[in-house]
Amino acid sequence: MRNHCSVKATTTMAADDQFDQVAEAGDVIRYRLEASEVAWEIAPGRTVRGYGFNGQVPGPVIEAKQGVPLEIEFTNRLPEPTVIHWHGLRLPAAMDGTEVVQRPVQPGETFTYRFTPPDAGTFWYHSHANETEQMEKGLYGALIVRAADELTLDAERILVFDDLRVDKTGQIAKFGGLMERHNGREGNVRLINGTSEPELTIAAGHIERWRIVNASSARYVRLSLGGQPFQIIGTDGGLIEAPVTVTEVLLPAADRVELAVGPFENEGAILTIEDLPYYRMAGKKGVERFGTIRVTPRKPSTARVPARLREIVPLVAREDARVTRTVTLGFKLSLRRGLDFVVNGERHHCDQPVKVGELQVWDVVNATRMDHPFHLHGFFFQVLEINGQPPAWRSLEDVINVPPQATVRIAWYPDDRPGSWMYHCHILEHHASGMMAHFDVVR
Ligand code: C2O
Ligand code: CU
Ligand code: CU
Repeated sequence: MRNHCSVKATTTMAADDQFDQVAEAGDVIRYRLEASEVAWEIAPGRTVRGYGFNGQVPGPVIEAKQGVPLEIEFTNRLPEPTVIHWHGLRLPAAMDGTEVVQRPVQPGETFTYRFTPPDAGTFWYHSHANETEQMEKGLYGALIVRAADELTLDAERILVFDDLRVDKTGQIAKFGGLMERHNGREGNVRLINGTSEPELTIAAGHIERWRIVNASSARYVRLSLGGQPFQIIGTDGGLIEAPVTVTEVLLPAADRVELAVGPFENEGAILTIEDLPYYRMAGKKGVERFGTIRVTPRKPSTARVPARLREIVPLVAREDARVTRTVTLGFKLSLRRGLDFVVNGERHHCDQPVKVGELQVWDVVNATRMDHPFHLHGFFFQVLEINGQPPAWRSLEDVINVPPQATVRIAWYPDDRPGSWMYHCHILEHHASGMMAHFDVVR
């Protein structure tokens, strides 16, 4: 999918293979990732043919440190080209891992990604080539960036949610079809960390930090832990200002959230990790189970969730915000393809450049009758309002749900990282159909 904006393809080949899978040499954290076909065991005795990193789905958790250079030597052993996108990371444009900034890594080739993560938080990495198939087959993993003074609770878990469409033969169902292209592909098997409906355990009395990624192609996960309250402590761009106690949280496709979970008092209790009905005008409607939590015998707790987590300075006051751009997410009938998802009336829209240092206030307008998770590459935005109403709390985001016929106003600041960037709907089938745009950040 070449765009018609200016394309500067760059390739850097690295040949140093002096390190193990994870090495910390001096001030560089190094990983090696290899994409290949894998036998993915989604449940005991149930294996599908998928794609994985280092032989597993999800790929290994990449543990990075805020401000410490990260180097990932990637080798493609798939039968098709691919690229890796570092979702949510504020990195240089050339390292964004899209087909716009690099030549896709061909089978047998190696490409080394190098960047220094500036923000602590929960991120993820995934294929950005033939995504509807490669991501469904398993090419994704979590990437954690830790601060020097990380908030630690009694334990931490990284939970990557996904759903997989499996056919009668037990394999990943074939791709395509008008319904799938219109609604996005939702699965009939629900997975946490690549396993169908696992049982997790948590000691009574403990409070855990859960980092959650929704890696589904299209599914919105309306997460509930058996109706028990939990605290939201972070979102896409790291911690929020103060914990928010809720009994459910909505994760559109590609969204992340960090929770403080517990304490549960009843030893032996079983809670369901469930996805409540959410009608995005397409897809599933019932309550579905992702897994369970078993409460094990009580243990002493040292966890304390601070009342104040962080300060987020508003980029602009809501009343002072002057809209600099309108991005309209739309839908068009097409004689050739049946339907197209578009931005400002165009498939793979080529948007105006953005100037470094000029505050952006965008109205993202959903002109369709279904939800779209809007994703901006490489920069965090603050949500100013949704249909004229301010959000309940301040946060830094790179994915936001835009409900049907709604307008979401966001503000973001292009810092000095010129190059080609993009934004798109993160329902993979919509992105592939054309609901995306390219734009340059220029000095
Ligand atoms: Cu998860 Cu183009 O991104
Ligand atoms: Cu494109
Ligand atoms: Cu969409």
